[in-house]
Amino acid sequence: EPPKLVVPKMLSEAEEVDDGKKKVTIFFGTQTGTAEGFAKALSEEAKARYPEANFKVVDLDDYAADDEEYEEKMKKENFAFFFLATYGDGEPTDNAARFYKWFAEGKEKGDSYKNLHYGVFGLGNRQYEHFNKIAIVVDEILAEQGGKRLIPVGLGDDDQCIEDDFSAWRENVWPELDNLLRDEGDATTVSTPYTAAVLEYRVVFHDQPEELASVNGLANGHANGTAAYDSQHPCRANVALKKELHTPLSDRSCTHLEFEIPGSGLKYETGDHVGVYCENLIETVEEAERLLGLSPQTYFSVHADKEDGTPLGGSALPPAFPPCSLRTALSRYADLLSAPKKSALIALATYASDPSDADRLKHLASSDGKEEYAQYVVAGQRSLLEVMADFPSVKPPVGVFFAGIAPRLQPRFYSISSSPKIAPSRIHVTCALVYEKTPTGRIHKGVCSTWMKNAMPLGESLDCSSASIFVRTSNFRLPADPKLPIIMIGPGTGLAPFRGFLQERLALKESGVELGPAVLFFGCRNRKMDFIYEDELNNFVEAGVISELVLAFSRDGPTKEYVQHKMAQKASELWNMISEGAYVYVCGDAKGMARDVHRTLHTIAQEQGTLDSSKTESFVKNLQMTGRYLRDVW
Ligand code: 2AM
Repeated sequence: EPPKLVVPKMLSEAEEVDDGKKKVTIFFGTQTGTAEGFAKALSEEAKARYPEANFKVVDLDDYAADDEEYEEKMKKENFAFFFLATYGDGEPTDNAARFYKWFAEGKEKGDSYKNLHYGVFGLGNRQYEHFNKIAIVVDEILAEQGGKRLIPVGLGDDDQCIEDDFSAWRENVWPELDNLLRDEGDATTVSTPYTAAVLEYRVVFHDQPEELASVNGLANGHANGTAAYDSQHPCRANVALKKELHTPLSDRSCTHLEFEIPGSGLKYETGDHVGVYCENLIETVEEAERLLGLSPQTYFSVHADKEDGTPLGGSALPPAFPPCSLRTALSRYADLLSAPKKSALIALATYASDPSDADRLKHLASSDGKEEYAQYVVAGQRSLLEVMADFPSVKPPVGVFFAGIAPRLQPRFYSISSSPKIAPSRIHVTCALVYEKTPTGRIHKGVCSTWMKNAMPLGESLDCSSASIFVRTSNFRLPADPKLPIIMIGPGTGLAPFRGFLQERLALKESGVELGPAVLFFGCRNRKMDFIYEDELNNFVEAGVISELVLAFSRDGPTKEYVQHKMAQKASELWNMISEGAYVYVCGDAKGMARDVHRTLHTIAQEQGTLDSSKTESFVKNLQMTGRYLRDVW
């Protein structure tokens, strides 16, 4: 009898075979890919250590379609790790937002997780008020609801070396997993330390640029013409207008830029953010070409799979980008100016022809070289290119450079400074130039702000600049009832969303809607240098769209005047407005300004409302919970 033909069954996510192995789910909430990278690194190493278990890395957004599904699936997990980044005002990343809302606010309390062993690692920045809030909250709720915490929550600090924080946390994971996952009698297995393989794409070179289009028919970096735009499907938009907002007296720069949104359905609301994919400066790109020792006209495509279609080893390989020239790839896809990660140093070491370069790079990436890394890379604010220039014998191939050395260039987010009611086919951006001298004397030019400053608007050339953009919805919205009073606090470029608010109010007013009072606190250094949109603000006052414009100039007089000082002077007026249902909005720098304004708000409530400190605390919390105190901070 001929052997039965067994047709291999394609397994969908939903119907996995039960092979009796213990299952470990590694969740991530990521914005720039770091949390995802850590999740994958943990999974790779764990797979090597525990062949007797199954590990799966899961995007929190992909995990469940709705709250019920989260509820149902999460309860069945026995072993889980969470990598969770915290953003801006203590917010989850976009891909964790739905999960977090359900988990932290929506779900019923109980002992749902009594069968779960878990660990949480957070990604945050200690400079911010809500340092690692998301990770901390998730860790606590899991414990409250019966979960067994394997190790204390990891508090990764991006201000220092977050890779070290991760490594240290991970080392504490293994002894716990040894107990849980290894079968009896297996206990003597010597765990081999896992060394991450250098990530590398399969690369195909092409002689002619024309050949590129045929590789996958996508010659352009970003798809266009999709109905719904998002970070994966951005929309190509021309720069219609550009204006310098500082006066010539200022030694800094702030750009007003207007993107023309094609009649293609990219929509936005007042208060939303725009994500912008821009390009590296040509001088930066040329330096990278020189360091790689390759011609800008090297045409190639990168592939995350083998020729036969099987995925290349190492699930941490970033998704491939469309075929293009080296010049384009370096301009659009490579983050060349951030500090190199330790994994990048290891990859660089692998391609050093001078053994002393290799040794030094390996040392920098090792735990022994921790102090040196902190000095040389972190404190020195050295960019990837600067480090490569220090190790001239290093010539990595492109497949390694784009997969394991240069991270993908990330979109930058800006608070939109227009309202669709006034500018339906344009998205306005207000962007301060990042231009700083680093400790090594390098001038650090912010990628996107420099691109915007140099952009060529349509009015000046038909060959104008364009960028791939997409809109990110925010909850920074005017009150539904336009008669309610509003208090806006936005020094510097923190003014951006309020310009949108004011445009919206102007449109409402012109259509006959009655408006409530609106106070705007704006601050800058000098009235004659960086008072951005001065004329427009005065016009809004004249039109009755702003009822009071309060200005704080920090460097005009003998003492610093900040917006919060002006707020304190107007304490009773502000308190009256809040008592009448005012909405309070703060936009701008999270580390200094927003924190100080927050304290001032407490003081006002405490003094004007004669509340004790715990009542003050809950009063401000309540404002926040009811959506009447909103912050758009960075
Ligand atoms: P400074 O640079 O003179 O200190 C916009 O950036 C304005 O915000 C500037 O006038 C800046 O003043 C001011 N600013 C700086 N730190 C601040 C803080 N902690 N609170 C409020 N305003 C601040």
